[in-house]
Amino acid sequence: MASVEFKAVEKSFGEITVVPNLNLKIPDGKFTVLVGPSGCGKSTTLRMIAGLEEITSGDLYIGKKRVNDKLPRDRNIAMVFQSYALYPHMTVKANMAFGLKLRKMDKDEIEKRVSEVSEMLGLNKLLKRKPKALSGGQRQRVAMGRAIVRRPAVYLFDEPLSNLDAKLRGEMRREIAKLHQKVKTTIVYVTHDQVEAMTLADNIVVLNFGRIMQQGRPLKLYSRPANKFVAGFIGSPAMNFFNGKIEYHQEKPHFAGKDFILEIPPYFSFKKDMNLQLGIRPEDLLASGNSDSSPGHLNCKIEVVEPLGANIIITGITCMGRIMASLPPQSEVEVGDSLTLKFPLDKIHLFAEGDEGKSLRKED
Ligand SMILES: Nc1ncnc2c1ncn2[C@@H]1O[C@H](COP(=O)(O)OP(=O)(O)O)[C@@H](O)[C@H]1O
Ligand SMILES: [Mg+2]
Repeated sequence: MASVEFKAVEKSFGEITVVPNLNLKIPDGKFTVLVGPSGCGKSTTLRMIAGLEEITSGDLYIGKKRVNDKLPRDRNIAMVFQSYALYPHMTVKANMAFGLKLRKMDKDEIEKRVSEVSEMLGLNKLLKRKPKALSGGQRQRVAMGRAIVRRPAVYLFDEPLSNLDAKLRGEMRREIAKLHQKVKTTIVYVTHDQVEAMTLADNIVVLNFGRIMQQGRPLKLYSRPANKFVAGFIGSPAMNFFNGKIEYHQEKPHFAGKDFILEIPPYFSFKKDMNLQLGIRPEDLLASGNSDSSPGHLNCKIEVVEPLGANIIITGITCMGRIMASLPPQSEVEVGDSLTLKFPLDKIHLFAEGDEGKSLRKED
């Protein structure tokens, strides 16, 4: 097993810098997910670990070794791609054994490893088949098996589930989670899907334009996002945001938007004349049919109702713009209804202005 560390790593393609200055420690034995929007540099970062992309400047360590100049095959990593890249003319078993044969491993040892791993992944009955006779999920499992038999120090996964349908994606996600519990090897997993990130990771790294927006445990990122970018990226439906200023009412500081005020709790710090953004998650809003315009209440007119079974998501129009709220499943709401949404003070977030505006919450 091994940790992975980037020290002041820069990656450019010609004139274009994709990763400007990455300082990142990926802990040994943990499941780390790199998540961020498409094009933010996740694959490039992963490919630098694999040795498939040269590093423009800086240092990369796997374990205690600097690996900048090491060939992919000398890095003791195994990578699983989005496209399974199985050899079509080989059986499942031969596909899994191939990398070990190349390394001239002893036949009995190969046999032992392949049977162990095919047992673990439920591939026993498929060993004689060729890839074209497998479903997408089975192929992905073989691709994972081929990586696991090698027992590398680090597994690298690049969006391994994005070619699968939603149901299968859920199943495979749970299998990968189980797999990590068994092998306990360092995993670096790249995805643009925040649900995958939240459910799989011990440690999430949120990236934007090749820069780390926040790193931490999934629930920490959900409950204490460090900036507006992370707040908007983690959680579904996404957090609602409203622009406003500071106003004083009865000498107490309030967030003031258009026809809306809310008292700012003491655990936020701010400057009097700053512009700020109020954030609230759809699941944290409380709805009532009685009109209320006291501080911390916002009236909306329902535009869309989405009953999901376990809850109902509504989209409404307010004086400050659109809002989404998640209501209990038995709520009787219809398009065109008026609703008052209460912002519980212990659930609000405040950020400085801008797409990456910093959280104004003081450290706990
Ligand atoms: N070989 C390349 N040459 C030029 N630009 C590239 C190359 N590979 C990736 N890029 C660019 O680098 C950026 C990050 O790409 P990538 O790491 O694939 O993002 P992600 O995996 O997060 O979607 C993108 O803007 C992409 O166009
Ligand atoms: Mg990618």
